Amino acid sequence: MTYKIAVIPGDGVGPEVVREGLKVLDAVSKIYNLKFDFKTYPFSGEHYLKTGEILPEDALKEMENMNAIYFGAIGHPEVPPGILEKGLLLKLRFYFDQYINLRPVKLFPGVETPLKDKGPKEINFYVVRENIEDFYVGVGCKFKSAKHKSNLFVERKLYKLNFKVETLTEKPIETAYQIGVYTKENIQRVFRYAFEFCRKKGLNKLTCVDKANVLTEIYGLWREVFMEVSKDYPGIETEFGFVDAVAMWFVKNPENFQVVVAPNMFGDILTDLGAIIQGGMGLAPGGNINPEGVSMFEPIHGSAPKYAGKNVANPIAAILAGQLMLEHLGEVEAAKAIEKAVTEVLVEGKIRTKDLGGNSTTSEVGDAIAKKIR
Ligand code: IPM
Ligand code: MN
Repeated sequence: MTYKIAVIPGDGVGPEVVREGLKVLDAVSKIYNLKFDFKTYPFSGEHYLKTGEILPEDALKEMENMNAIYFGAIGHPEVPPGILEKGLLLKLRFYFDQYINLRPVKLFPGVETPLKDKGPKEINFYVVRENIEDFYVGVGCKFKSAKHKSNLFVERKLYKLNFKVETLTEKPIETAYQIGVYTKENIQRVFRYAFEFCRKKGLNKLTCVDKANVLTEIYGLWREVFMEVSKDYPGIETEFGFVDAVAMWFVKNPENFQVVVAPNMFGDILTDLGAIIQGGMGLAPGGNINPEGVSMFEPIHGSAPKYAGKNVANPIAAILAGQLMLEHLGEVEAAKAIEKAVTEVLVEGKIRTKDLGGNSTTSEVGDAIAKKIR
């Protein structure tokens, strides 16, 4: 069978790390007899500035018939924040209903972690981040209104904060709000995925992250559904953690985690913390997964414009995103081969990029990993 893969290298270091990821996929395809049909798309900040196009409908339609999407990074210094994020990356996640963002937090042997007395044995778990709802739904508004008494005001007065209500109401009031949304069906499928994932990987503990003590409505529902779904999985130990405490435990006791399930925004923040304890952004991949549809695999780092075109970025996160993609496609042996090759190169420690204390180039790291596979 031939796998049809959409490739979106994107901006900054994206094209360089994707190039190395493809190099490794090519090497592994020869050994395991896989056939890939890659189609590269130009969508990026660069492309947007040149053409005004972000992500056209016909490309999305075309990708519906592909087996997966392999994504680099987006973000361009001349494009205002929000345009590419919402128009490209989040658009893809939403359009393909990729409700899971699977982010392994794994410290490879030979890699340093900033955590004292912790090693590969302690830092090895998964974050399952809900990927399409929460504060990412884009419901919000910013407005000015003259002589308007907002609730905010009344409350501030109540709390005896230092506000002169009279003066303020004379001026236009600038207000912004953005709300989070969760739907029961979506939370259900996220937790089901996470529990099934535990079973598949032979893991037996799941941590539910929220802030149900303050955001009682949205995360109250999140937690309710979690408790409901967990009844179907009596063999798996469960625990709750408020996100602030979980952030602390990531640093203090990473060994206590196996599968951590987090709402979208908390998951976003926690996985950057996860990335740094596993040795840095250059090593952290993620999969935007729709188990019944088209999934997308990417390094979780951004476009790092300052390193673009210099052949210095660490391609390992992108290469490991390729590994996640193969695993998702059911090519488990080929995926393992990538992980093994990455491990060997990291343990040897001779060829590594600057972020890991070496001075090898992006392509040298890709070459070394591809060579191990061969
Ligand atoms: C990530 C990124 C994205 C997110 C941005 C670029 C929209 O930070 O993949 O973690 O917030 O999900
Ligand atoms: Mn992020």
